[in-house]
Amino acid sequence: MKTLQIGMLGCGNVGVEVARLLTSDSGDFKARAGAELELVKIAVKDMEKARPGIAKKLLTSDSDSIVNDADIEIIIEVMGGIEPARKLLLTAMKNGKSVITANKALLAKHGAELYDAASANGVDLYYEASVGGAIPILRPLRDSIVGDHVTRIMGIVNGTTNYILTKMDENGSAFADVLKEAQALGYAEADPTADIEGHDAAAKAAILAGLAFHSRVSVDDVFCEGISGITATDISVAKAIDHVIKLLAIAELTSDNKISVRVHPTLIPRAHPLASVRNAFNAVFVEAESAGELMFYGRGAGGEPTASAILGDLIAVARHKSGGSLGAGESAYADLEIAAISSVKTRYLIRLNVADRPGVLATVAQIFASHNVSIQTVRQSGRGEDAELIVMTHGASDASLSATVKELAGHDVVKSVESVIRVEGATS
Ligand SMILES: NC(=O)c1ccc[n+]([C@@H]2O[C@H](COP(=O)([O-])OP(=O)(O)OC[C@H]3O[C@@H](n4cnc5c(N)ncnc54)[C@H](OP(=O)(O)O)[C@@H]3O)[C@@H](O)[C@H]2O)c1
Repeated sequence: MKTLQIGMLGCGNVGVEVARLLTSDSGDFKARAGAELELVKIAVKDMEKARPGIAKKLLTSDSDSIVNDADIEIIIEVMGGIEPARKLLLTAMKNGKSVITANKALLAKHGAELYDAASANGVDLYYEASVGGAIPILRPLRDSIVGDHVTRIMGIVNGTTNYILTKMDENGSAFADVLKEAQALGYAEADPTADIEGHDAAAKAAILAGLAFHSRVSVDDVFCEGISGITATDISVAKAIDHVIKLLAIAELTSDNKISVRVHPTLIPRAHPLASVRNAFNAVFVEAESAGELMFYGRGAGGEPTASAILGDLIAVARHKSGGSLGAGESAYADLEIAAISSVKTRYLIRLNVADRPGVLATVAQIFASHNVSIQTVRQSGRGEDAELIVMTHGASDASLSATVKELAGHDVVKSVESVIRVEGATS
């Protein structure tokens, strides 16, 4: 039986688990892959760091020596970041090595370049771990439902923000308090910007959209709004109408066959399957013409769950090497345009702080109507100078809604526009 030599770039949270599982389950891997899988070199930055369970002789601080090693056939990249990961993977592929990566930031920015290199050099490029950690979602899109027409994907793809929103929903706490608690428990980074402002989810949205709609989608195409503006009042208003607020990564086909791809806080009915995805769990909800609705659920991060996805890719790639074949390459034939966010239609919930005077409601309704935004329901709470209007709209374009909000904010009957949150559901 053939031995396949593997080089790994990085040995942090994920890499250390890949190395541990690869060594401890080697008998099963050999039987499943049809080849002996031997991890022969690991690149790290700090050679002095303690790495229990990792043989020191495997480590090097010279990443180039791994991607240029003629005996290594497969590279696992778990170092993260754009550079030097990008250059290293391009060199590895140029040298005929198949590549497995968990690096969503790199794929969402330079996916096209990586795919071109894989195709030009006849190697595999696999990246299941880059979206949803342990959850198999990319291979199902690439293989299992590739015979169908996906119309929409909605994902909870960031565990930190889902944890924060879950705790705000359960305890009625303020965003800043839950963020601090999440940091203390290790659910949020010391600098949480990439998570709470939606950038991490945006990279994953780009990857999902590209696969679902057979087009090249970059993170720069993704409209992105985070959860730092969500207040305890927003959560309690959502509760009162039997909804929850989730940070969703949404990729869908518009009526004029463009791709709308966006990340934003979204109100979803409590009865929706995504509403029950709590704490740091992730889930991806897929709608396809023939399959109907599908949901993929599981642990979206963590060293061991993420290693599970990487090892699945490793066995797939090893099987191809054993059989002299390649997996599916890029499918971007549809080449669909990205819809401008201003044209994308959703429903909205708008909270307005108004003075409770005769005629206020009529004035507010007139402003909505003048921008062609149709109101579904209006609720008023409070009295006197502390009245609040909660307006739910029918589907409206982002441009119309923005113009409405701008006029409301400048009108003297409106003391403040407290929040504007998109609502999931039929837009007509
Ligand atoms: N953590 C998760 O739950 C998770 C889930 C899904 C996907 N991912 C993705 O997986 C990748 C790795 O994540 P992680 O959490 O394992 O990161 P991490 O703990 O920060 O580990 C990064 C590793 O890469 C090494 N490294 C960084 N820059 C290097 C360089 N220039 N040369 C050589 N080695 C270098 C580091 O070396 P030292 O150890 O010496 O510092 C470290 O071992 C990222 O792309 C991430 O987005 C992570």
